[in-house]
Amino acid sequence: MAQLWGGRFEKNTDEEVFAFNASITFDKRLLDVDIAGSKAHAAMLEKQGVITAEENEAIQNGLDGILADTRSGKLAVTEEYEDVHSFVEANLTERIGEPGKKLHTGRSRNDQVALDMRLYVRDRVDETDGLLYTLLETVHSVMEQHTETILPGFTHLQKAQPVTLAHHFGAYFEMFRRDRDRLRDIRKRMNESPLGSGALAGTTYPLDREMTAKALGFDAPMRNSMDGVSDRDYLVEFLSALSMVMMHLSRFSEEVILWNSDEYKFVEIDDAYSTGSSIMPQKKNPDIAELVRGKTGRVYGALMSLLVTMKGLPLAYNKDMQEDKELAFDAMDTAAACVHLFTGMLATMTFHESRMNASAKGGFTNATDLADYLVGKGVPFRDAHGIVGRVVLQCIDEGKAIDDMTLGQLQEFSDRIDKDVYEAIALETCVNRRTTDGAPGKEVMEKVLRCNRDYLDTNRPKG
Ligand code: ARG
Repeated sequence: MAQLWGGRFEKNTDEEVFAFNASITFDKRLLDVDIAGSKAHAAMLEKQGVITAEENEAIQNGLDGILADTRSGKLAVTEEYEDVHSFVEANLTERIGEPGKKLHTGRSRNDQVALDMRLYVRDRVDETDGLLYTLLETVHSVMEQHTETILPGFTHLQKAQPVTLAHHFGAYFEMFRRDRDRLRDIRKRMNESPLGSGALAGTTYPLDREMTAKALGFDAPMRNSMDGVSDRDYLVEFLSALSMVMMHLSRFSEEVILWNSDEYKFVEIDDAYSTGSSIMPQKKNPDIAELVRGKTGRVYGALMSLLVTMKGLPLAYNKDMQEDKELAFDAMDTAAACVHLFTGMLATMTFHESRMNASAKGGFTNATDLADYLVGKGVPFRDAHGIVGRVVLQCIDEGKAIDDMTLGQLQEFSDRIDKDVYEAIALETCVNRRTTDGAPGKEVMEKVLRCNRDYLDTNRPKG
């Protein structure tokens, strides 16, 4: 047990209490940002005349040494310390002696941990943004190749109207683009520095909070020190954005699972992204998609957990807030792995155009277009709807598609039907006549693809 406090105590901490209270097992991943924050703090203390230039130099070198040694494996972050902050301070003092004890001047672990989490989360926001960008690139390239691949669009999981694969994937492009927008918003709002908030009420030292904020890439210092140490809104926002990413991935996964089934066979997941069965030799399972769908609950769980943790906390810092880490870290790791693996699965997936086309043909997806054709010939829509309904009934009876009926057969339902009907209800016509903004028609789709390309070119991730 190596602790930062003790003067006021007459007894040692009970061992179980120490272990229960400690966070080092999970906050050690904040080591890099903790050191970055300490370096900025020390440099500022020097500039403000709180410590000397020599002291600052010793601190900078000592902190660099800790980073280098932990990276090389020479120094291990061990559990005898309560948290990563104690580990760094104790090691620093061991290395450089007296100046190490001055690092914590004008600082509390409360603003330190608030800073560390913000720096760490900011990096993870950027990382997620980059992963989503790669996913969008992949979705875009599938779209480019499939502006003419027709498949049924579904409502109620029943075949509805023909769309193209580019159009279907285009829906996901929009979702993931919005997900990136959300990250950008969050990043902007969260990019203020809590450092210098002290325990809760600022400090009596002449800290230059602008200086540390700038050194650490923040837009400004936070305006209220009590808020500085106790705000976790940004983390709730990030977990909420990640939940939304997972919701989108999960819906996409569900479709991949269905489409990869023997019944649909619209797609085939690559061997490298599938798994087998220990007993059934014929099986090739879509485990990755299923796991992405399954792990969604885990990310939602982290969001709910943090919301509940925060709801009853009086200002300012409370130890409950230490619970902001484990599940949030898990959610970030989970979402990042899911976006990455899902992208790989998509990039290597085979699309069976002929299966999609046959499915669209077989499901009366052109029934609305036949009704629209009749409307074009002067039949009121409601009557046209009834006529086509009866045509479909007979088709079902005969096991045929509407296109397979002879002109004579069709004319028994309406004398307005002429031989131009076949062209009008061909799947290609159904799709390509849908030229309103947002529809699957080839012309509009190509316009969308150009816009999306432009978006990808002008909104590359940082770094
Ligand atoms: N491990 C703590 C956390 O994650 C660090 C802050 C501790 N502050 C304190 N006054 N006990 O929140």
